[in-house]
Amino acid sequence: MKALLETLRPGDPDRKLAESIDPLRLPAHIAIIMDGNGRWARQRSLPRVAGHKAGVDAVRETVETCARLGIGALTLYAFSVENWKRPRTEVETLWRLLRFYLHRELDLLQENRIRLSALGRIDALPAIVREDLEECCSKTAQNRGMRLNLAINYGGRAELVDAFNRILDNARRDGSLPVLDVDEDLISSALYTRDQPDPDLLIRTSGEMRVSNFLLWQIAYSELYVTETLWPDFRRAHLLRAVADYQKRDRRFGGLTASEDDEQLVEVAGVRKA
Ligand code: IPE
Ligand code: IPE
Ligand code: MG
Repeated sequence: MKALLETLRPGDPDRKLAESIDPLRLPAHIAIIMDGNGRWARQRSLPRVAGHKAGVDAVRETVETCARLGIGALTLYAFSVENWKRPRTEVETLWRLLRFYLHRELDLLQENRIRLSALGRIDALPAIVREDLEECCSKTAQNRGMRLNLAINYGGRAELVDAFNRILDNARRDGSLPVLDVDEDLISSALYTRDQPDPDLLIRTSGEMRVSNFLLWQIAYSELYVTETLWPDFRRAHLLRAVADYQKRDRRFGGLTASEDDEQLVEVAGVRKA
Protein backbone atom coordinates (compact mmCIF):
# COMPACT_ATOMS: atom_id res chain seq x y z
CA MET A 1 0.00 0.00 0.00
CA LYS A 2 2.80 2.37 0.98
CA ALA A 3 4.61 1.47 -2.23
CA LEU A 4 1.52 2.39 -4.25
CA LEU A 5 0.97 5.74 -2.50
CA GLU A 6 4.62 6.64 -3.07
CA THR A 7 4.06 6.42 -6.84
CA LEU A 8 0.95 8.64 -6.74
CA ARG A 9 1.47 12.41 -6.64
CA PRO A 10 -0.92 14.44 -4.40
CA GLY A 11 -2.95 15.72 -7.40
CA ASP A 12 -3.30 12.27 -9.00
CA PRO A 13 -7.00 11.29 -9.21
CA ASP A 14 -6.09 7.68 -8.30
CA ARG A 15 -4.59 8.87 -5.00
CA LYS A 16 -7.94 9.58 -3.35
CA LEU A 17 -9.13 6.19 -4.51
CA ALA A 18 -6.03 4.48 -3.12
CA GLU A 19 -6.40 6.34 0.18
CA SER A 20 -10.00 5.11 0.49
CA ILE A 21 -8.69 1.51 0.65
CA ASP A 22 -8.08 -0.04 4.06
CA PRO A 23 -4.62 -1.63 3.91
CA LEU A 24 -5.57 -4.04 6.70
CA ARG A 25 -8.48 -5.58 4.78
CA LEU A 26 -6.97 -6.20 1.37
CA PRO A 27 -8.02 -9.32 -0.53
CA ALA A 28 -5.21 -11.84 -0.05
CA HIS A 29 -5.81 -13.22 -3.53
CA ILE A 30 -7.42 -11.56 -6.56
CA ALA A 31 -8.37 -13.56 -9.66
CA ILE A 32 -9.25 -11.89 -12.96
CA ILE A 33 -11.04 -13.16 -16.06
CA MET A 34 -9.46 -10.84 -18.60
CA ASP A 35 -12.24 -10.64 -21.17
CA GLY A 36 -13.25 -8.30 -23.99
CA ASN A 37 -10.14 -8.02 -26.14
CA GLY A 38 -12.04 -9.00 -29.29
CA ARG A 39 -14.84 -6.48 -28.64
CA TRP A 40 -12.28 -3.75 -27.92
CA ALA A 41 -10.73 -4.39 -31.34
CA ARG A 42 -14.08 -4.63 -33.12
CA GLN A 43 -15.11 -1.23 -31.73
CA ARG A 44 -12.06 0.19 -33.47
CA SER A 45 -12.51 -1.83 -36.68
CA LEU A 46 -9.26 -3.64 -35.91
CA PRO A 47 -8.53 -7.37 -36.11
CA ARG A 48 -9.17 -9.30 -32.87
CA VAL A 49 -5.45 -9.81 -32.31
CA ALA A 50 -5.02 -6.03 -31.95
CA GLY A 51 -7.21 -6.34 -28.86
CA HIS A 52 -5.00 -9.07 -27.41
CA LYS A 53 -1.96 -6.92 -28.10
CA ALA A 54 -3.51 -3.94 -26.31
CA GLY A 55 -4.43 -6.25 -23.42
CA VAL A 56 -0.74 -6.81 -22.60
CA ASP A 57 -0.43 -3.25 -21.25
CA ALA A 58 -3.45 -3.81 -19.03
CA VAL A 59 -1.70 -6.91 -17.64
CA ARG A 60 1.44 -4.90 -16.90
CA GLU A 61 -0.43 -2.14 -15.08
CA THR A 62 -2.61 -4.57 -13.12
CA VAL A 63 0.36 -6.67 -12.01
CA GLU A 64 2.31 -3.60 -10.89
CA THR A 65 -0.67 -2.06 -9.08
CA CYS A 66 -1.48 -5.27 -7.21
CA ALA A 67 2.16 -5.77 -6.19
CA ARG A 68 2.44 -2.18 -4.92
CA LEU A 69 -0.89 -2.38 -3.15
CA GLY A 70 0.34 -5.42 -1.22
CA ILE A 71 -1.88 -8.13 -2.69
CA GLY A 72 -0.53 -11.58 -1.82
CA ALA A 73 -1.56 -13.41 -5.00
CA LEU A 74 -2.94 -12.43 -8.40
CA THR A 75 -4.28 -15.03 -10.82
CA LEU A 76 -4.91 -14.01 -14.43
CA TYR A 77 -6.97 -16.15 -16.80
CA ALA A 78 -4.98 -15.91 -20.01
CA PHE A 79 -6.05 -18.97 -22.04
CA SER A 80 -8.71 -21.55 -21.29
CA VAL A 81 -8.79 -25.19 -22.41
CA GLU A 82 -11.79 -24.12 -24.50
CA ASN A 83 -9.85 -21.35 -26.27
CA TRP A 84 -8.25 -23.94 -28.62
CA LYS A 85 -11.55 -23.72 -30.52
CA ARG A 86 -10.46 -20.33 -31.88
CA PRO A 87 -8.79 -19.91 -35.28
CA ARG A 88 -5.22 -21.19 -35.35
CA THR A 89 -3.84 -17.77 -36.25
CA GLU A 90 -5.46 -16.18 -33.20
CA VAL A 91 -4.12 -18.92 -30.91
CA GLU A 92 -0.63 -18.51 -32.39
CA THR A 93 -0.79 -14.76 -31.79
CA LEU A 94 -1.68 -15.40 -28.17
CA TRP A 95 1.43 -17.58 -27.77
CA ARG A 96 3.57 -14.92 -29.42
CA LEU A 97 2.16 -12.28 -27.09
CA LEU A 98 2.72 -14.45 -24.04
CA ARG A 99 6.38 -14.91 -24.98
CA PHE A 100 6.69 -11.17 -25.67
CA TYR A 101 5.20 -10.45 -22.23
CA LEU A 102 7.56 -12.86 -20.47
CA HIS A 103 10.64 -11.39 -22.16
CA ARG A 104 9.58 -7.78 -21.62
CA GLU A 105 8.34 -8.11 -18.07
CA LEU A 106 10.96 -10.31 -16.42
CA ASP A 107 12.82 -7.25 -15.10
CA LEU A 108 9.61 -5.75 -13.72
CA LEU A 109 8.80 -9.04 -12.00
CA GLN A 110 12.26 -9.17 -10.44
CA GLU A 111 12.18 -5.50 -9.35
CA ASN A 112 8.87 -6.08 -7.60
CA ARG A 113 10.03 -9.47 -6.18
CA ILE A 114 7.10 -11.19 -7.92
CA ARG A 115 7.10 -14.98 -8.15
CA LEU A 116 5.56 -16.29 -11.35
CA SER A 117 3.71 -19.61 -11.62
CA ALA A 118 1.68 -21.19 -14.41
CA LEU A 119 -1.62 -22.92 -13.72
CA GLY A 120 -2.96 -25.33 -16.30
CA ARG A 121 -1.99 -28.16 -18.61
CA ILE A 122 1.33 -26.61 -19.51
CA ASP A 123 2.68 -29.79 -21.12
CA ALA A 124 0.27 -29.31 -24.03
CA LEU A 125 1.70 -25.88 -24.98
CA PRO A 126 4.06 -25.48 -27.93
CA ALA A 127 7.57 -26.38 -26.68
CA ILE A 128 9.03 -22.91 -27.15
CA VAL A 129 6.22 -21.30 -25.13
CA ARG A 130 6.58 -23.87 -22.38
CA GLU A 131 10.33 -23.34 -22.21
CA ASP A 132 10.02 -19.55 -21.91
CA LEU A 133 7.35 -19.94 -19.28
CA GLU A 134 9.34 -22.43 -17.25
CA GLU A 135 12.43 -20.27 -17.49
CA CYS A 136 10.56 -17.22 -16.20
CA CYS A 137 9.00 -19.25 -13.39
CA SER A 138 12.35 -20.69 -12.29
CA LYS A 139 14.12 -17.30 -12.50
CA THR A 140 11.53 -15.76 -10.17
CA ALA A 141 11.08 -18.81 -7.92
CA GLN A 142 13.08 -17.29 -5.06
CA ASN A 143 11.08 -14.03 -5.00
CA ARG A 144 9.08 -13.52 -1.85
CA GLY A 145 6.74 -10.73 -2.99
CA MET A 146 3.38 -11.22 -4.72
CA ARG A 147 2.53 -14.56 -6.34
CA LEU A 148 1.52 -14.05 -9.98
CA ASN A 149 -0.31 -17.03 -11.45
CA LEU A 150 -0.93 -17.17 -15.17
CA ALA A 151 -3.77 -19.57 -15.94
CA ILE A 152 -2.81 -20.95 -19.34
CA ASN A 153 -4.50 -23.89 -21.02
CA TYR A 154 -6.50 -23.83 -17.82
CA GLY A 155 -9.91 -25.35 -17.12
CA GLY A 156 -11.55 -25.68 -13.72
CA ARG A 157 -12.89 -29.13 -14.52
CA ALA A 158 -9.55 -30.20 -16.01
CA GLU A 159 -7.89 -29.04 -12.78
CA LEU A 160 -10.24 -31.20 -10.71
CA VAL A 161 -9.65 -34.20 -12.97
CA ASP A 162 -5.88 -33.66 -12.64
CA ALA A 163 -6.24 -33.32 -8.86
CA PHE A 164 -8.19 -36.57 -8.50
CA ASN A 165 -5.68 -38.42 -10.66
CA ARG A 166 -2.82 -36.99 -8.63
CA ILE A 167 -4.50 -38.19 -5.41
CA LEU A 168 -5.01 -41.67 -6.88
CA ASP A 169 -1.45 -41.88 -8.23
CA ASN A 170 0.04 -40.86 -4.86
CA ALA A 171 -2.17 -43.34 -3.01
CA ARG A 172 -1.21 -46.15 -5.40
CA ARG A 173 2.45 -45.29 -5.03
CA ASP A 174 2.48 -45.23 -1.24
CA GLY A 175 0.09 -48.16 -0.89
CA SER A 176 -2.65 -46.20 0.88
CA LEU A 177 -5.26 -46.69 -1.88
CA PRO A 178 -7.37 -49.30 0.00
CA VAL A 179 -7.82 -46.92 2.95
CA LEU A 180 -7.94 -43.65 0.96
CA ASP A 181 -10.10 -41.13 2.78
CA VAL A 182 -11.00 -38.08 0.68
CA ASP A 183 -11.80 -34.77 2.33
CA GLU A 184 -11.79 -31.11 1.23
CA ASP A 185 -8.24 -30.49 2.44
CA LEU A 186 -6.94 -33.43 0.40
CA ILE A 187 -8.63 -32.11 -2.76
CA SER A 188 -7.36 -28.54 -2.14
CA SER A 189 -3.85 -29.89 -1.64
CA ALA A 190 -3.90 -31.58 -5.06
CA LEU A 191 -5.01 -28.50 -7.07
CA TYR A 192 -2.66 -26.35 -9.18
CA THR A 193 -3.12 -23.64 -6.52
CA ARG A 194 -2.27 -26.07 -3.70
CA ASP A 195 -0.04 -23.75 -1.67
CA GLN A 196 -2.14 -20.58 -2.11
CA PRO A 197 -5.27 -19.18 -0.46
CA ASP A 198 -8.56 -19.18 -2.38
CA PRO A 199 -9.36 -15.91 -4.19
CA ASP A 200 -11.23 -13.40 -2.04
CA LEU A 201 -12.17 -11.35 -5.08
CA LEU A 202 -12.97 -12.51 -8.63
CA ILE A 203 -13.08 -9.76 -11.25
CA ARG A 204 -14.45 -10.24 -14.76
CA THR A 205 -14.14 -7.51 -17.36
CA SER A 206 -16.45 -6.77 -20.29
CA GLY A 207 -19.72 -7.50 -18.51
CA GLU A 208 -20.18 -11.24 -19.03
CA MET A 209 -21.98 -12.82 -16.07
CA ARG A 210 -20.34 -16.24 -16.09
CA VAL A 211 -17.26 -17.96 -14.71
CA SER A 212 -16.24 -19.76 -17.93
CA ASN A 213 -14.64 -22.77 -16.20
CA PHE A 214 -12.32 -20.68 -14.04
CA LEU A 215 -11.16 -21.85 -10.58
CA LEU A 216 -14.40 -23.73 -9.95
CA TRP A 217 -13.30 -25.17 -6.61
CA GLN A 218 -11.47 -22.11 -5.32
CA ILE A 219 -14.18 -19.49 -5.94
CA ALA A 220 -16.75 -21.16 -3.66
CA TYR A 221 -16.82 -18.05 -1.46
CA SER A 222 -15.12 -15.40 -3.60
CA GLU A 223 -16.75 -12.00 -3.95
CA LEU A 224 -17.68 -11.40 -7.60
CA TYR A 225 -17.09 -8.09 -9.34
CA VAL A 226 -18.12 -7.67 -12.98
CA THR A 227 -17.26 -4.48 -14.82
CA GLU A 228 -18.35 -3.38 -18.30
CA THR A 229 -14.80 -2.12 -18.94
CA LEU A 230 -13.13 -4.13 -21.70
CA TRP A 231 -9.83 -5.72 -20.67
CA PRO A 232 -7.51 -3.53 -22.82
CA ASP A 233 -9.03 -0.44 -21.10
CA PHE A 234 -8.56 -1.84 -17.57
CA ARG A 235 -6.21 0.40 -15.59
CA ARG A 236 -5.05 1.12 -12.03
CA ALA A 237 -8.24 3.06 -11.20
CA HIS A 238 -10.44 0.12 -12.24
CA LEU A 239 -8.49 -2.27 -10.02
CA LEU A 240 -8.63 0.14 -7.08
CA ARG A 241 -12.40 0.58 -7.56
CA ALA A 242 -12.89 -3.18 -7.50
CA VAL A 243 -10.89 -3.48 -4.26
CA ALA A 244 -12.80 -0.56 -2.68
CA ASP A 245 -16.08 -2.24 -3.65
CA TYR A 246 -14.86 -5.54 -2.21
CA GLN A 247 -14.16 -3.83 1.12
CA LYS A 248 -17.82 -2.79 1.35
CA ARG A 249 -19.05 -6.39 1.09
CA ASP A 250 -20.43 -8.26 4.05
CA ARG A 251 -18.76 -11.69 3.85
CA ARG A 252 -20.88 -14.01 5.93
CA PHE A 253 -19.70 -17.43 4.70
CA GLY A 254 -23.13 -18.78 5.55
CA GLY A 255 -23.06 -17.34 9.06
CA LEU A 256 -24.26 -14.02 10.40
CA THR A 257 -22.71 -10.56 10.31
CA ALA A 258 -20.72 -9.44 13.34
CA SER A 259 -23.49 -7.03 14.40
CA GLU A 260 -26.16 -9.76 14.12
CA ASP A 261 -23.94 -11.99 16.23
CA ASP A 262 -23.83 -9.23 18.89
CA GLU A 263 -27.64 -8.84 18.73
CA GLN A 264 -28.02 -12.57 19.31
CA LEU A 265 -25.73 -12.45 22.29
CA VAL A 266 -27.83 -9.62 23.76
CA GLU A 267 -31.03 -11.62 23.07
CA VAL A 268 -29.60 -14.74 24.70
CA ALA A 269 -28.39 -12.66 27.65
CA GLY A 270 -31.88 -11.04 27.88
CA VAL A 271 -33.63 -14.44 27.84
CA ARG A 272 -31.25 -15.73 30.48
CA LYS A 273 -31.93 -12.68 32.63
CA ALA A 274 -35.72 -13.08 32.31
C1 IPE B 1 -10.19 -12.40 -23.71
O1 IPE B 1 -10.73 -11.64 -24.73
C2 IPE B 1 -8.85 -13.00 -24.10
C3 IPE B 1 -8.88 -14.46 -24.24
C4 IPE B 1 -9.89 -15.23 -24.04
C5 IPE B 1 -7.65 -15.08 -24.65
P1 IPE B 1 -11.65 -12.29 -25.85
O2 IPE B 1 -10.78 -12.65 -27.00
O3 IPE B 1 -12.46 -13.38 -25.30
O4 IPE B 1 -12.56 -11.05 -26.23
P2 IPE B 1 -14.10 -11.06 -26.60
O5 IPE B 1 -14.81 -11.75 -25.47
O6 IPE B 1 -14.23 -11.80 -27.88
O7 IPE B 1 -14.47 -9.62 -26.70
C1 IPE C 1 -12.63 -16.73 -20.66
O1 IPE C 1 -13.00 -15.89 -21.69
C2 IPE C 1 -11.21 -17.19 -20.87
C3 IPE C 1 -10.18 -16.17 -20.69
C4 IPE C 1 -10.37 -14.94 -20.31
C5 IPE C 1 -8.84 -16.61 -20.95
P1 IPE C 1 -13.78 -16.44 -22.97
O2 IPE C 1 -14.05 -15.26 -23.82
O3 IPE C 1 -13.03 -17.56 -23.58
O4 IPE C 1 -15.10 -17.03 -22.32
P2 IPE C 1 -16.56 -17.17 -22.92
O5 IPE C 1 -16.44 -17.88 -24.23
O6 IPE C 1 -17.13 -15.81 -23.06
O7 IPE C 1 -17.30 -17.95 -21.88
MG1 MG D 1 -14.31 -13.43 -24.45
